[in-house]
Amino acid sequence: MYDVEKIRRDFPTLSLTINGHVNTFLDTAASAQKPQVVIDAIVKMYTETYANVHRGSYYLSEMATEAYENARRIVKDFINAKSENEIVFTRSATESMNLVASSWGLNNLHEGDEVLLSEAEHHGNLVPWQNACEKTGATLRFFKVEDDGGFDIENFYKLLNPKVKMVAVTGMSNVLGTVFPIKEIAHAAHLAGALCLVDACQSIVHTPTDVQDIGCDFLAFSGHKLYGPSGIGCLYGKYDLLAQMPPYQFGGDMIENVTYEKTTFTIPPARFEAGTPAIVQAVGLGAALQYLQSIGMKNIEAHEQELIKYTNERLKEIPNLKIIGTAPNKGGVFSFALGNIHPQDVAFILDKEGVAVRTGHHCAQPIVNRMGYTSLARASFGLYTNHADIDRFVAALQKAETFF
Ligand code: ALA
Repeated sequence: MYDVEKIRRDFPTLSLTINGHVNTFLDTAASAQKPQVVIDAIVKMYTETYANVHRGSYYLSEMATEAYENARRIVKDFINAKSENEIVFTRSATESMNLVASSWGLNNLHEGDEVLLSEAEHHGNLVPWQNACEKTGATLRFFKVEDDGGFDIENFYKLLNPKVKMVAVTGMSNVLGTVFPIKEIAHAAHLAGALCLVDACQSIVHTPTDVQDIGCDFLAFSGHKLYGPSGIGCLYGKYDLLAQMPPYQFGGDMIENVTYEKTTFTIPPARFEAGTPAIVQAVGLGAALQYLQSIGMKNIEAHEQELIKYTNERLKEIPNLKIIGTAPNKGGVFSFALGNIHPQDVAFILDKEGVAVRTGHHCAQPIVNRMGYTSLARASFGLYTNHADIDRFVAALQKAETFF
């Protein structure tokens, strides 16, 4: 039985009072709150086992290296990669996708090639490919989403052709909530001779992620949305692909041998981890993933799906509210417009009631525009969101309406 109240007690910030009200935190899609176990793991490392990694043959450095490499093993297990050598630690999911677009993209794309994205990509999985295409002469194409935000399967297959060398797609839209069929997309990409990258920033938070089952070549995600610290991201890459890719950044810890004239590079994942990495953040992420595993991603998914149904029902009580993204297969993200009230004003009034929502183009400007808006408000759920949060959200929206 999923005990959401017990889970809430693991998150210190949820018991804060905001503007005199209970903290109703509905912005987990931007960044999740942190459980005490993550905070404790960070404090413990800085207090007891901190030093630089891979560089010292003394006690603290060995302890730190073991903790950092153990975090890599935890990530490997969490996404069911074949080997921890397929896990590259970066500073963010954006850096992970830049790594692929630069290292793989700039060296493998040519004029006449195509890169295929969905219309719903976050800037982190769009701008790096724009850059790679501009520099190589490849063409960037976008398959459509339906008007309800659903995956337009026909348009996807229409655009998939042998010229496509990379299909890079979000697992779940941070604006629409749409869950994309990434296993089918990866399979289709391979049949067409293309590689497949999944931006799993949102999907990995809400559903179990198994890279071997999905069959994707690359998968990127960030730590801070997964209840871990900010400043840490991951790139999963099939080892044979990573082994063929040149470094993305250059410096310490990614070399084999350096002379004044020339450098040879070490093997992945170290090849892609130039400089002192985000040591404590990686360990904090490991603690977050173990915490999630102790609850079970399937249980989290079931809880959130039930909450989505409840939210859909409750939001019907506000006739002026339009949900943007109503595809049947969606995760806990509700972008909305409330009559003609500017989203910023809605968020301002909600904040006075202790309700936190995000507004703007959500770093995915093209899809917000495609849906007919320049700015939207968005409520998003985490494993700690409960029915009372939704009730306070609905009450705050009803109050907001009375101001206009
Ligand atoms: N990509 C994050 C969001 O959707 C920051 O809010």
